[in-house]
Amino acid sequence: MAAPEGIPRLLAGLNGDGRALSLDEHVNQWGPPPASMSASFIDELDRSGLRGHGGAWFPVGAKWRSVRRSITKRPIIVANGAEGEPASGKDRLLVHQLPHLVLDGAVMAAGALGASRVIVHVPGSAIPTVESSIEERRRFGVDSVDIEVVEAPDRFLAGQESAAVNTINNRNSARPSFTGLTTVRDSGVGGRPTLVQNVESLAHVALIARFGADWFRREGTPESPGTALLTVTGRWAEPQIIEIPLGIPLGHALGLRQEDARGIQGVLLGGYGGGWLTAAAALDMPLTEDAARQYGSSIGAGVVALLPSGICPLSEVSRVVTYLEGQGAGQCGPCVNGLAGLDLVMEKLAFRPSSLHGGVSTIPGLCDLVEGRGACRHPDGVARFIRSALRVFADHVELHLSRGACRGNTAPMLPVPTRPQSSQSSPLRPVVR
Ligand SMILES: Cc1cc2nc3c(=O)[nH]c(=O)nc-3n(C[C@H](O)[C@H](O)[C@H](O)COP(=O)(O)O)c2cc1C
Ligand code: SF4
Repeated sequence: MAAPEGIPRLLAGLNGDGRALSLDEHVNQWGPPPASMSASFIDELDRSGLRGHGGAWFPVGAKWRSVRRSITKRPIIVANGAEGEPASGKDRLLVHQLPHLVLDGAVMAAGALGASRVIVHVPGSAIPTVESSIEERRRFGVDSVDIEVVEAPDRFLAGQESAAVNTINNRNSARPSFTGLTTVRDSGVGGRPTLVQNVESLAHVALIARFGADWFRREGTPESPGTALLTVTGRWAEPQIIEIPLGIPLGHALGLRQEDARGIQGVLLGGYGGGWLTAAAALDMPLTEDAARQYGSSIGAGVVALLPSGICPLSEVSRVVTYLEGQGAGQCGPCVNGLAGLDLVMEKLAFRPSSLHGGVSTIPGLCDLVEGRGACRHPDGVARFIRSALRVFADHVELHLSRGACRGNTAPMLPVPTRPQSSQSSPLRPVVR
């Protein structure tokens, strides 16, 4: 089959009706997966420059190479579709509508790493689709490895890699581990070396294995090749999922020009562990992880949320921080003490600024106390979210401190699941562009 041209790539095969692509339709779209995989495919992944799309943007080839393999302990592959981030919908789209692309990628990882099992870690709502796709593949004898499905609890931390492994091991579910120098790549599911890979990363793997690294690099920039899925909130009437070539300016991806920045108070990039940017900076920023980090943010899981004028940004930030504080696993200092302090101070700033006697001067110090001190990076994400908000909404902070909290707020914009969370649904039901 000829290599497809242009964009979309991952989303090219979508059914218009929201149905999952059958195995037949999938093979018609992309051709059959390679009959066998070997470790040499990892060199192709290196050449492709593919990086992980679960949040950290770690090079995929390097990660596969670091999975400790031995003759006695064959590795396990975890396809991570937990998508704990409430403002993201792209992983749900993949597992609900393009399950075979994800399953192909996971099975290819198993072939290249000599793994004995693939585990698909997804929210309860996706389980029927994924299970019937696995059944279809069994009927046609597509895979030479066992594939199982494990439900991801509906919690922010469920998709963090050691938390996912704990859920699968049925121990300390959806809570990260204190892994020290040993990672799940050394000892994960059942004590075996484990590759935890985001489902979007695996979908890209499925296409690289078919069409090669040079094809993958035809989109994007030399340093950030390929495409990415973004979940965009606040640009159109409903949240939408788009596929963009990496490296284009965000404004271009959203069809917005600099003059449109006036109606946007700030842009949240990367989700609740990402960071806020001014609209002017965000619209010009090339969409690469390196550029986002230079701006004090991250593309993270590909969330883009535009905050329109007329909504109090500090009340949005406070609601999200309260949610994040409640999602901490409560097992190490920064989450037990630090996040509660940050939540309180942000709540005062948003709703009772006159009770903030020292102004906002104490907040950076509170962020310092949590950053880099947890067993996982959850507190770092909360600190980045808060620091960037204070920077981008500095004028609004001054208004609160001098004149008091905003009155008559409109309905909240950023999605925050209400407790207790349902294991079946997400508040976000994106439409694909
Ligand atoms: C607080 C936190 C939450 C995370 N949630 C998710 C998630 O929901 N889904 C996901 O794929 N990765 C998530 N990650 C990243 C995973 O730890 C892991 O790096 C990723 O699944 C690996 O896949 P990738 O290399 O393909 O990105 C999270 C990380 C942190 C620190
Ligand atoms: S930092 Fe927080 S979320 Fe992470 S492991 Fe420790 S208590 Fe859990």
